[in-house]
Parts: sequence; C-alpha cells; structure tokens
Amino acid sequence: MTRIFLIGFMGAGKTTLGKALSKELGLTFVDLDWYTEERYHQTINELFTGRGEADYRKLERQMLHEVAEFEDVIISVGGGTPCFFDNLEYMNNQGDTVFLQVNPAVLFKRLRVARRQRPLLCNQSDEEMKEYIGSTLELRKDYYSGAKFVFEANRLEDYSQIKEAVGRLKALLKL
Ligand code: S3P
Repeated sequence: MTRIFLIGFMGAGKTTLGKALSKELGLTFVDLDWYTEERYHQTINELFTGRGEADYRKLERQMLHEVAEFEDVIISVGGGTPCFFDNLEYMNNQGDTVFLQVNPAVLFKRLRVARRQRPLLCNQSDEEMKEYIGSTLELRKDYYSGAKFVFEANRLEDYSQIKEAVGRLKALLKL
C-alpha cells in the first residue's frame, strides 16, 4: 500500500508534482485544500478568514485525518499543515512524507502570480510578500525538515521539467 504526503511552502509545487506523480504511478491524487473546499462548500480563503486561523487549523487537522486513511494515494497538504499540532508526526506514521524544497526567490516568482486565492498572501505587496516568505520559511523549516525525504523542486515550470522531476521523485522513493 502506498501513501505519500507532499509537504512544503505555498508555491513549492505540491499540487503540480502530486498530480503528475499520481498519474505516472496510477494512484489517486488528493489535494487537502481541494478536499476541504468540497466538504465545506467554501473556499480556503472563506474558511480561513471566516473562522480565523486558530479554528481553521483545527478543521485542517480533521480533514487531514480523513484523507490520511485513504490507500494507494498521493496527498498534497497545505503549506502550514505540518507546522501545527502533531500533524507532521501523524503523517510520518501514516506513510511517507516528502518535503519539496524550493529557494525563496523561486517561491516569490511563483506566488507573485498566484497569491489571490491564498489568505496569508492576498493582501500583501511584493515587498511584504518577499519578507513574509523569508521569515515564514525560517519559522517552518524545522517542521519541514522532519519529513522522511527531501526533494529539490526549483524547476517545475514546464512539461519537460515536471517530467524530469517525477523521474527523480520516483527514484528517491524507490517506486
Ligand atoms: C497555507 C497554505 C495553503 C492553504 C492555506 C494556508 C499556509 O495551501 O492551506 O492558505 O499556511 O501556508 P498551499 O500550500 O496549497 O497554498
């Protein structure tokens, strides 16, 4: 039985790689944010701002416990998921965890054009976002590095780069 969790900062490519890897391996792909949105018929932005972060994190934990029972699955979780409660330890017990490591400059480039749907970024200027990425990565790095595997994911900008990354990820995980 295969169960792999992809973790890492917003914009690290968890969804992009998760989709491509699951297709390659014939496994189901689950994105925790999408799963949560479907369950509650609300966007992450609405849930996060409506409930406040503390309550959102409790909900996120509950949703994690639901999807982490699925089998033969690749699961991408939210950027903050491993950093709250015992979520990281729980994922490590439920399956393999992979930290997608990406340079702050690359994260900035990706998130500049994809911040609107992200409650933690949507009201920030470019300068504020740059600062936020650096300081939040610093706060989160000890959690992220508690994953079983670390995978460098700086180059995911087109089909051939994604294909190359899937090959490397398969080799890393011996799949
Ligand atoms: C968050 C990341 C988001 C989403 C929420 C909070 C975070 O997921 O769960 O906006 O704390 O980093 P992505 O990493 O998929 O953007």
